Amino acid sequence: MKALLNYTQLIEEGLRNLEFPDTPTQLYEPQRYILELGGKRIRPILTLLAAELFNTAAQTALPQALAIETFHNFTLIHDDIMDGAPLRRNQPTVHQKWNENIGILSGDALMIRAYQLLGQIQPSLLPDAFDLFNTTALEVCEGQQMDMDFETRMDVSAAEYVEMIRLKTSVLLGCALELGAIVAGATKNDRDELYEFGQHIGIAFQIQDDILDLYADPEKFGKQVGGDVIANKKTILFLTALNVATAEQREILKQLSTEHDLVLKVSRTRALFDHLNVRKLCEDRMKEHYSMALTALDKIQVDPSKKKVLIQLADYLMERDV
Ligand code: IPE
Ligand code: IPE
Ligand code: MG
Ligand code: MG
Ligand code: MG
Repeated sequence: MKALLNYTQLIEEGLRNLEFPDTPTQLYEPQRYILELGGKRIRPILTLLAAELFNTAAQTALPQALAIETFHNFTLIHDDIMDGAPLRRNQPTVHQKWNENIGILSGDALMIRAYQLLGQIQPSLLPDAFDLFNTTALEVCEGQQMDMDFETRMDVSAAEYVEMIRLKTSVLLGCALELGAIVAGATKNDRDELYEFGQHIGIAFQIQDDILDLYADPEKFGKQVGGDVIANKKTILFLTALNVATAEQREILKQLSTEHDLVLKVSRTRALFDHLNVRKLCEDRMKEHYSMALTALDKIQVDPSKKKVLIQLADYLMERDV
């Protein structure tokens, strides 16, 4: 996105400047690999934008922005193992290209790198930054475990789903923003509102991720289309379908969860979702959270013109196809 190009460049440069030893190759090469595959870099951009929102140069928050992006990439390596995903950003996932053990350890090492970067902060700010980061990291683990637990359940409620995606995804967006605000010395109140903005943007973002997982253009998407259906994930699409389906259609969905022909499984599920108009219903839920995000942003005590770029980023996230 054009308005964000300068920020993206700052992040890319920062990532390129991270040094990794050459050996052991199978420990460091996968970390370089995943970071070089690209990605939208939205989380570190949020950190930089948050710093600027409170009148601090983006550059000042760069190490913390990079901490967020390296942490995110660590979660992706492990998430792809857990989800059995073959593709990430249009290339083989780390465990696919190497193996699961290499994915586990290089992921762990990338998380440690995230902590090293986080620590490059004015010492007086470290306790707050550390608390926020640790709480967030644990919450992401909780969300990931809930996501896995839900695979074998058919009675997941909408509230449980929202809590699961809040934990696995939204808290990291909130943390990215709040870290930028911490670096900039924002008030506790403004920090909290900005975090709240991140929570709702994050929920909307994960709803969009669920939608794209089934409906994206495989050429552009860069991940396996239909992966969530194959893994029996309790996505917003699935839960919405269960909610509006007849008893007979619910039975079909249940049977499809054990279908061995995966192409058939995905196409039949999608056909039923289409029939039930599920995509539109999910988009409506996504928009509700987008509105709640803007309400939180509104409450922050800075000049409204300074919030424009955050709104642009939020808009882009809602319309993205990757
Ligand atoms: C993927 O995040 C993981 C989710 C929380 C949905 P992104 O969609 O931000 O992935 P990249 O970093 O842009 O590849
Ligand atoms: C991932 O959720 C959340 C984390 C990585 C913590 P998904 O499993 O939906 O993410 P993708 O779709 O694989 O990127
Ligand atoms: Mg996944
Ligand atoms: Mg997952
Ligand atoms: Mg997904």
